[in-house]
Amino acid sequence: MLDRLRAHAYTLAMTYAPYPALRLRRTRATAWSRAMHAENRLSASDFIWPLFVTDGEGVEQPIATLPGVSRWSVDGIVARAREARDAGIPCLALFPNTQADRRSDDGAEALNPDNLMCRAIRAIKDAVPDIGVLTDVALDPYTVHGQDGLLDPTGYVVNDATVDVLIGQSLNQAAAGADIIAPSDMMDGRVGAIREALEETGHANVQIMAYAAKYASAFYGPFRDAVGSRGLLKGDKKNYQMDPANGEEALREVALDLAEGADSVMVKPGLPYLDIVARVRDRFSVPVFAYQVSGEYAMIEHAAAAEAGDRDALILETLMAFKRAGCSGVLTYHALHAARLLEG
Ligand code: PBG
Repeated sequence: MLDRLRAHAYTLAMTYAPYPALRLRRTRATAWSRAMHAENRLSASDFIWPLFVTDGEGVEQPIATLPGVSRWSVDGIVARAREARDAGIPCLALFPNTQADRRSDDGAEALNPDNLMCRAIRAIKDAVPDIGVLTDVALDPYTVHGQDGLLDPTGYVVNDATVDVLIGQSLNQAAAGADIIAPSDMMDGRVGAIREALEETGHANVQIMAYAAKYASAFYGPFRDAVGSRGLLKGDKKNYQMDPANGEEALREVALDLAEGADSVMVKPGLPYLDIVARVRDRFSVPVFAYQVSGEYAMIEHAAAAEAGDRDALILETLMAFKRAGCSGVLTYHALHAARLLEG
């Protein structure tokens, strides 16, 4: 410890000349110099764009609590995929607003090879094969109770039986052409089980991005509107999603998912959890992604609408914060807009 302190003091002394020999404002004085000294850069390739799929043809349904975001029918999703590719966005994340009559206690629609997700995946892979498709694995868009898994008679979300269904859901998505399986359910052991099933069924190159540290957050409200689960959900998800009080536990979650074969890990929500991103990056040196979730998006939009700040500047500053914290990329509803800002 003392050695480390001494080494640190030595480094400080060697690096920093005292004021006025050193004036940190010198390198900030001009735009060219600021550009030259920027430690991080944002580009369209940092973004994964979440999109909501709905049934029908030529349908656009604006989502009131996510101003500026709509659900699109599959044809619209394909059009968005083209826009994303043209803007340099490497990957889309898909979420279905499952038709009410296809929701059930056990979420069986998740296993239907012709469900909304699979139709959207196939259509994108057909029309825009050079963009990545990440698919969410969890049962909440398919259950009548809005929970991510199966319930026992007391309403508790059971783990192992849920994992069995999630395996089926993952294989269903992989068969439709998904490139990255992203389990967001927070069941124990699901990453290993899904990895094994993918290997056994000829999907060795399908990646897993684990929602490794996903918190039981109040920031998911607008998303639940978008997939139609908000009104259905009774109670909360605290017996499987993480307690916002916990940081060490996030590192255990990440360690487990990596040991089970996750190719990359995600922290979610984003901005309120940048400390977790930084700790994961420091500890594991693996690709870390963060999800700037629906409630965060809504906060920025409402702040901008109330003229509390400049919209574009708020968007780019928050996205840069993810890079500074150590993210390889960010899932953000602002992806297309931000990509175009960075282009222009
Ligand atoms: C479903 C899921 C949720 C989000 C992504 N996948 C909601 C939840 O866990 O209740 C939230 C994303 C967002 O708020 O933008 N398991």
